[in-house]
Amino acid sequence: ACPHNYPHQAVIGPTCVWQDLLSRSFLPEPFISTTSLASQCGFSMKLDQLGNVMIFASLHNCFAQNVVTDTGSRIMTLVFFTPEEKVMTVAKAQNSGYGIVNTPSRLVVRSPKTTPETYTQSVAGVPMTVLKMSAIFEQKWLATQIDVTAACPMLEGSVYVTPNTVTWYLPWHIDPLISSDQFKLLEVYMGIDGQRLNATEMAARQYSMSANDMYIIVEIPVGAVGGYFKSQVQDGQYFIYYTIEPMLELLWIEEAANEDTRYKVFLPITTPLQYQPPQVTDVPPQIIGGCDHQNFYVLVKYETHGFQTIIGKQILTPTLAEQYNFIDNGTHFSIVVPFSSPDTKFEAIESSSIRSRLDVVLMNQKTKNIMKEFSMSCKFHSTLIECFPNGTITALAVKLNSVPSLNPSQLTLRDPMCRPSFSDDRYAYFIFSGNSCGTTRKFLANVMLYENEISLPEETETESQPENDELKISCYYDVNSTSTVAFYTSPSKIEPRAKSGKGELQVEMRLALDNSYSTFYKLEDYPVSKYLKQPLYFEVELIAATNPSVSLELENCWATLNEDRRSHPRLNLIIDGCANPLNPYQVIFHPVWVDARVQYPSRFKRFEVQMFTFPEDDNNFDHHQLFVHCDVVICDNMNPLGGVCSGQCSSQKNKTKGQRRAVSHVNSFKHVSSGLIVMI
Ligand SMILES: *[C@@H]1O[C@H](CO)[C@@H](O)[C@H](O)[C@H]1NC(C)=O
Ligand SMILES: *[C@@H]1O[C@H](CO)[C@@H](O)[C@H](O)[C@H]1NC(C)=O
Ligand SMILES: *[C@@H]1O[C@H](CO)[C@@H](O)[C@H](O)[C@H]1NC(C)=O
Repeated sequence: ACPHNYPHQAVIGPTCVWQDLLSRSFLPEPFISTTSLASQCGFSMKLDQLGNVMIFASLHNCFAQNVVTDTGSRIMTLVFFTPEEKVMTVAKAQNSGYGIVNTPSRLVVRSPKTTPETYTQSVAGVPMTVLKMSAIFEQKWLATQIDVTAACPMLEGSVYVTPNTVTWYLPWHIDPLISSDQFKLLEVYMGIDGQRLNATEMAARQYSMSANDMYIIVEIPVGAVGGYFKSQVQDGQYFIYYTIEPMLELLWIEEAANEDTRYKVFLPITTPLQYQPPQVTDVPPQIIGGCDHQNFYVLVKYETHGFQTIIGKQILTPTLAEQYNFIDNGTHFSIVVPFSSPDTKFEAIESSSIRSRLDVVLMNQKTKNIMKEFSMSCKFHSTLIECFPNGTITALAVKLNSVPSLNPSQLTLRDPMCRPSFSDDRYAYFIFSGNSCGTTRKFLANVMLYENEISLPEETETESQPENDELKISCYYDVNSTSTVAFYTSPSKIEPRAKSGKGELQVEMRLALDNSYSTFYKLEDYPVSKYLKQPLYFEVELIAATNPSVSLELENCWATLNEDRRSHPRLNLIIDGCANPLNPYQVIFHPVWVDARVQYPSRFKRFEVQMFTFPEDDNNFDHHQLFVHCDVVICDNMNPLGGVCSGQCSSQKNKTKGQRRAVSHVNSFKHVSSGLIVMI
C-alpha cells in the first residue's frame, strides 16, 4: 500500500514509486514532465487523445529483475565529457539521477535532460542536447571501455509550425555521434508513436519526408491522422492545438570501423494554441422522398443527432424503425413506409387508386421545436372494387383523412343489414353478390350494370359525420359472356352526373401568346419569359368529356415560386371562383366564344394576370419566377348544385349551410399547373 491516497497509485517492485512518478502537473501543458526517478528508472508517461494516462516501462527499468544472473563485468568508473573530462563512480552517478544498468551483453544509460554533465551543441544549426561518456569495466586484469553518446534535437530550432503545416528538420549527419569521415547513411524511416510507416501509409496520411544536403525534412499537415486536436478555454476564449509524435529512424555505417548505428528520435510536437472564433452551425437536416407502386421512401440527411423523427403521429422508436427498414450510415438515414401503413393518411380515392400521404417531422430533442416538416402524397394503385364473373362483388371502403370521425365498422351497403366482412379504424371490406344487399341491376346497350352504395345507416348519420362518404359501387357485366368488363367507383355525391365517361376527365392549363387566345406556348417553349407587369393569358380546358352537359369552373388559382403547388410563399389569384380582391395584380376573366377550336365554351375558362414577383424574404429562392396552379371543378349543367357550379364568381350566398356544392369534397378537385414562367 502506498502512503498517500493518490487516484492512480500502484506498486511496482518493492517501492511505492508511483507517487513520485505522478507528481507532475497536468495543466495546461499536455505533455508530462516525469520526475527524476521516472527518467532514472525507465518510466515515462503520456496522455492519449481521450485523456487516458499511458505509462511506459523500459524492460531494463530499475525494478525489473534480470533472471539470467550470469554476472558480467562490473563498471568501475564513468568518465563524462562535458566536454571537459569528469570522472565519477557509478554510485555517485546514480545519486545524481543517472540510471545505469548492465547485463553481460548490454549497457543501458538513462539520463535526465538537465544534468550538469549534459550540454547543448548546435548541429547544422539545430540545437541538440548531448550526453557523452565512457564506461570502464574491469574484470580481473582486463579493463574494457565503452563509449556512450546520445544527442537529442531540441524542439526549438528544429520544428516550425504554420497554421497548416508542421515541419521538422533533423540533421542527418549528427556530428557528436560520428567519429570518422567514412560515414554512409543507409536507411531512413519515418513513423508515428514509435511505429514505422511505409510509403503508402505516409501518402494516405499526407505526410511527406524529403532530404537535402543537410536535413531530413518531415512535413505533416496540421490535423493529419496520427495526431489529434485538443481544445482549451483560456480567459473565456476557445483555443485548439494539435499534437503528434513523429519518429525518425536513421541507419548509418562508418565503413573503416565497420560500425553501424541505428538512431531513433521520438519528437512530441504540440502546435501553439490557435484561437477559434465561435461558429454557429444551424444546418437543419434535409429530407427528400419518393414513392414507388406501394411504398414511400424517405431519406434524411443530417449533421447532428439532436432530433427526434416523427412519422405520422408516432415517434420513430427502434421497433418502428425496424418495421420501416431503417438504415443509417452516419450522415443519412432512410426508411420505407408502405402506403397503407397506419402512419399514413388517405387523402382521396379514385377508381383504382388511393392517394396516400406521409408526414415526417423532425423535432429538436431538447427544445421540442420543429426543425423540419415534410409531407409527400402519392397515388398508389389499389383495387377497391372487384367484380367476379360468378356475381360476387367485393368493395373496400377507405377512411379518408378529411373525415376523422368516421367509424368504418358502422358502414353498410344499401341494405343496412349488410355490414362489412372485415373492418378496422381505416378500412371496411364488403363481400356481397349481385342479387343481395339492395344491389340494383340496369340493362344498358350491351352490358348489365349492378350498383350498390356504401354509406352510414341513416340513424348514425350526424352533423359531424359528413355525408359525402357514400361510395358508389358499379359493376358492368357483358350481357353476352357474363364476364367482367369494367367497373369503376366514384364517391356518389362528389361528381353527381359527370361520370358518363369511363376515363379520367382530363384538364389542361395553357398560356396564350396574346388575348386572342389563338396561339399558345408549347411544352418546349418553357420556361416562358415575361417582363414585369406584362399580361399572362391563361386558359384551362376540360378535355375528352363526352357528356356535353359538363362544364368546368375554376375554384381556386394561385401562384407559387416553386413547382410544388403546396409550397410557400403563395399568392392567391382566384378564391372560390372569384378574383382575390386583396391581390395587387387583379385577375381579369375573359369570356370564351365558340370558334374553330372551341366547340363547348363551358369547358374553357380564361383569365389574365400581370407578371409579378414575390417579395424578397430570407429564403434563397429565385424570386424572378413563378408557377400558376388551379383547383378546378367539373360541374353538371343539368344539375347545378350551387357553389362555383352556379357560374364563375356567382353570388357568394350559395354557401349557406345545407346547400350542397357540386364538389363538396376537397379531394376530388382536379389540379392543373402551368409550366415555369420567369421574369426578364
Ligand atoms: C504498408 O503498410 C500497411 C499496413 O501495415 C500494409 O497493409 C500495406 O500492405 C503496406 N504497403 C506496402 C506497399 O508495403
Ligand atoms: C450515406 O448514404 C447516402 C445516401 O445513400 C450517400 O449519399 C452517402 O454517401 C452515404 N455516406 C456514407 C458515409 O456512406
Ligand atoms: C366467386 O369467385 C371468387 C373468385 O374466384 C371466389 O373467391 C368466390 O368464392 C366465388 N363465390 C361464389 C359464391 O362462388
